[in-house]
Amino acid sequence: MASSEEIQTLILTTLDTQGNIENTDSLRTADGAPIPYLAVVGVLNSLASKQMVTYTTIEKDHYSLTAEGNEIADSGSHEAKVFNAVDPKQGITIAELTNLLGPSAKIGQGKAFKNKWIKKESDILIREVTSIVDLTQQDVLEIRETGTHSNPATLKDLQSRKHVEKAKLISYSVSKGPKFSLTIEKQATDLTADMLANGSWRTLTFKKYNFAGNPPQGGHLHPLMKVREEFRKIFFELGFEEMPTNKYVESSFWNFDALFQPQQHPARDAHDTFFLLAHLTLEHLVHVDPATSSNFSDMEYVNRVKEVHSHGGYGSIGYGYDWKIEEAEKLILRTHTTSVSSNMLYRLAQETKANGGVFRPAKFFSIDRVYRNETVDATHLAEFHQVEGVIADKNLTLGDLIGFMQVFFEKMGIPSIKFKPAFNPYTEPSMEIFSWHPGLEKWVELGNSGMFRPEMLGAMGLDPDVRVIAWGLGLERPTMIKYGLDNIRELLGHKVDLDMIQSNSACRLDKKMGKELVGRDAVIA
Ligand code: PHE
Repeated sequence: MASSEEIQTLILTTLDTQGNIENTDSLRTADGAPIPYLAVVGVLNSLASKQMVTYTTIEKDHYSLTAEGNEIADSGSHEAKVFNAVDPKQGITIAELTNLLGPSAKIGQGKAFKNKWIKKESDILIREVTSIVDLTQQDVLEIRETGTHSNPATLKDLQSRKHVEKAKLISYSVSKGPKFSLTIEKQATDLTADMLANGSWRTLTFKKYNFAGNPPQGGHLHPLMKVREEFRKIFFELGFEEMPTNKYVESSFWNFDALFQPQQHPARDAHDTFFLLAHLTLEHLVHVDPATSSNFSDMEYVNRVKEVHSHGGYGSIGYGYDWKIEEAEKLILRTHTTSVSSNMLYRLAQETKANGGVFRPAKFFSIDRVYRNETVDATHLAEFHQVEGVIADKNLTLGDLIGFMQVFFEKMGIPSIKFKPAFNPYTEPSMEIFSWHPGLEKWVELGNSGMFRPEMLGAMGLDPDVRVIAWGLGLERPTMIKYGLDNIRELLGHKVDLDMIQSNSACRLDKKMGKELVGRDAVIA
């Protein structure tokens, strides 16, 4: 077999003398043998990568004989075998014929009758002609020699009789490339220190890197986690501490009561909140998953919360209803990450007390999952992520909140924001945050914010001059905008396309992102 150097020389010299090679099928080695297809492809690719040749692919149908087809080519068709078995004088019985030819007897008879080669006379087959021409054998022989047949109908017929199979044959038409030459310039694979020192790198040709390979199969971050990372960076740059949000099940106390949210508030209804059901195992006859938690470590604080709800305090008249601990004990899936913020602020009050009343200003943030018993649609799921920030310091004002929101949203690439008065049970005043969208020509909601109420902070034990500003927004909306998804079910749940997770780009909340971000309606869920 010819080596690839020999094939290379053959191709180059043929191109040199003929100008081009119409079909590589015509190439022959010195001893007249055709060149295997794979060897040709290898050489052509290597020459093409050096721009020495260009080539196009020629596809041709090639017909070859099946085992049965080859048998016919060698020893004749079934019908010819039948004819030959019939004795010119005495004929043959069907039993004898079957005995002699096996399955061919049956297959061949029909065609031999049809060709009027034989006929049946009182159970004996006799010849109707003295000699025959076995056209089928001639046809398959022609195909075996040429790979095709002059009559397309014959090819079809022989294919349906399973004597012939069709395959695609690939060959190439080759022309000289811009860098055609009879000799192959050696290409350098590595740039060495010597080449740099002696200047030879200027004239050398370098082999192109071949980066083909399997992409590494590793873990891939979900888009939500990528956008979360960007928000985390903003918070860390601004000196915030991350709150521990690793509990999805929370007591109603921290989610609602500590936040001065009355027990009759509609948000505390099973239509809006997921309540836990007690789960009892028969085996142990114990509640393994309780529906309530009465595990309050600081009953004095719980009583202060009861007092402020029922009768007021810290400058408030309260709600004037009978606060019940049973309601506060109910376990739920947290409906907002503000449940964690309330717990952290309580701890801050405890820390102040432990420090002999010396208050430490604090900046907290969290980005984690929350749950609401909502109807799922293209933009709402029953679980989503909230981004939340909290700043606690003495004598903060609404002006501080407004100013800080400007800094925060500018970091997200949103330069101008506007505020609208709103209501939250736990903040007063409360403000929705809007941004002007030049494309939609309207103000769109980005998030919600406010100053935590004295009824909440006072009960915790924080001094009246300690003010806490806080805000929240959703993580899903900016993520969907960033990654061009318009159905939230493409982002979370069983319909998520894993390729989307694996191939989406890293996230950067740049100026452009900010513009896109304000391009949709509310960012807050
Ligand atoms: N907890 C609010 C929500 O779920 C967001 C918020 C946080 C509002 C802090 C004010 C202050 O929508």
